[in-house]
Amino acid sequence: MRIKSLIAATLAMAAVAAIAAPAARADDIEETAAVCSACHGEAGVPVDKSIPAIWGQNEGYLYLQLRDFKVGNRKNVNMSEIAAGMEKPVMKALAAYFSAKPWPNLQEPSAPHDVAVHAENINNSAGCKGCHLENWQGDSVTPRVGGQGIQYLRETMAQFRSGERANNPWMAALLKTYTDADIDALARYLAGY
Ligand code: HEC
Ligand code: HEC
Repeated sequence: MRIKSLIAATLAMAAVAAIAAPAARADDIEETAAVCSACHGEAGVPVDKSIPAIWGQNEGYLYLQLRDFKVGNRKNVNMSEIAAGMEKPVMKALAAYFSAKPWPNLQEPSAPHDVAVHAENINNSAGCKGCHLENWQGDSVTPRVGGQGIQYLRETMAQFRSGERANNPWMAALLKTYTDADIDALARYLAGY
């Protein structure tokens, strides 16, 4: 096991222990949220590039992801274990808590012109912004993807495409039609948006 995954596993275990305690009251949510910050970042900037920003993410989307990790529709070695013991009111409270935070600046560089044109052409034919809206901010259960981390974006789109992330059949079907170069262009464009 690599050191990094050892640390992640230890953190995940600590998170599970903290969340197993009753934690639906507002002051308890603060305590539970501190556990999340060990990976998702004290100021909203994740500690590792494979971890998505959740500060300022849309509330309905955050709740649905926690629910999907809990019931197994979406799987991840850390998040599945963390969500497994969570009751609905705790997931709702965490979604409200993190969505109310400001979106962090992950300092991702803007995509070069040719990459941006490639990504915009895909958006024009697929209508991504029909759902992800102006400035890629999303709303409600549709996630904000503008300014998300590039490595996470690349990985999660590849996981939709391979079927490893199976909690949204529409996104999976759409991404199946794209090449690695398409996904790379989209990730670079969205991260630097
Ligand atoms: C041990 C590290 C770790 C801890 C602790 C952790 N997370 Fe995560 N979280 C991750 C990783 C890694 C992912 C990306 C999973 C994937 O690629 O599918 C993730 C994904 C998520 C997502 C999905 C975001 C998106 O854009 O789809 C949400 C929501 C989330 N975590 C919420 C939480 C909450 C709330 C807590 C605290 C209760 C928490 N996480 C604690 C590592 C962690
Ligand atoms: C029909 C509406 C719709 C369209 C069109 C659409 N999306 Fe999505 N997208 C969603 C929804 C809803 C989710 C959240 C799925 C879930 O709950 O896991 C999502 C998830 C994502 C995610 C994962 C975000 C995260 O934090 O994990 C990325 C990246 C993404 N979409 C990019 C795109 C791109 C790029 C396009 C165009 C090629 C596109 N989407 C087209 C609705 C849409």
